[in-house]
Amino acid sequence: MNILAIDTSCDDTSIAVIKGNKNRIEILSNVVSSQEKLHQAYGGVYPSLAKREHLKNLPLVLKRALKKAGLDLEKPKIDAIAITTGPGLEPCLWQGINFAEELANSWRKPIIPVHHLEAHILVNSLDKKLEASVFPAIALLVSGGNTQLILVKGVGKYKILGETRDDAAGECLDKTARVLGLSYPGGPQIATQATKAPKNSKLKIKLPRPMLHTKDYDFSFSGLKTAVLYDWKKRSKKVRESKAYISLMSQEIQQSIIDVLVKKTTKAVKDYRAKSVIIGGGVACNTELRKQLKKRLLIVNNKLNLLFPPKNLCTDNAVMIGVAAFLRQDKILKKTGTLKAIGNQKMKNSS
Ligand code: KG4
Repeated sequence: MNILAIDTSCDDTSIAVIKGNKNRIEILSNVVSSQEKLHQAYGGVYPSLAKREHLKNLPLVLKRALKKAGLDLEKPKIDAIAITTGPGLEPCLWQGINFAEELANSWRKPIIPVHHLEAHILVNSLDKKLEASVFPAIALLVSGGNTQLILVKGVGKYKILGETRDDAAGECLDKTARVLGLSYPGGPQIATQATKAPKNSKLKIKLPRPMLHTKDYDFSFSGLKTAVLYDWKKRSKKVRESKAYISLMSQEIQQSIIDVLVKKTTKAVKDYRAKSVIIGGGVACNTELRKQLKKRLLIVNNKLNLLFPPKNLCTDNAVMIGVAAFLRQDKILKKTGTLKAIGNQKMKNSS
């Protein structure tokens, strides 16, 4: 079964073609047109600009994705079209949904609506079949819009254990990076700066670890953002613009977020006797987070399956949308014109 998958949930226009059968899911093409540079001037994603860019990019990205997959441009051998219906920026989601519906109508193919966060979980079946031995799993989804810990009992069986009460981890990285004068997206900038932090500096920075010791699985990152701003404000111009301050502060911001994510994920693994840990979302690209999470989790249980997808499949991409659609064919829609964009909705509990 060939699936053409589309994701326009935020600022990347992504189209992929995947081929699925009983034993294997193969990526035939994966094209991402990034708008990162365009949004840098605004320090974050500008929704109406992103929407306009999707409109312009979608036909071009489609052509490239079909060509790379070796398919005919007019009548491609596609069995279904998968589309992200949410969560995401609503104007951007609609751009993709309308495009998918036009294709479905003209090619007379069914549509499979995909939940973006579920796709972050299911993309792991590219590497390892998500069969019974993998479950229960704990999924840590950390992006610019979401921070959630989810108990995964099987494909389509999710329970939200906890989530952020305010800012997402990525949002905190993006906003604090801005305070430090670093460009958007802030996560990779903070990660790079953190590697440059001097070892024995006289400059001392200590940030809080919000909700580290609470018994639940929730997170809160808005206080961390405020703490960064207060520290920055109390420093002289000379200090806050110094390389040492920027790198040490970056290291401390990153470590504060990692400490909380690692602690809560480990607690969930122990409490639910999980057999696997899945990570996804842009923040899951962070090398230090991956390293520290792996180290801690393997101390708790050295037989744990660590399903850490390659970095290009952690950030927004259409491959994961195709994979999720292949595994969730129960959601197939024969008729188009019925799709709804689900805006900022987080992952909901399901059976
Ligand atoms: O999942 P994603 O690509 O898009 C959505 O939010 O939907 O995630 C983007 C987020 C941004 O906040 C970005 O700063 C963060 O992921 N990010 C990182 C890294 N790469 C991207 N955060 C920390 N370390 C990274 N290497």
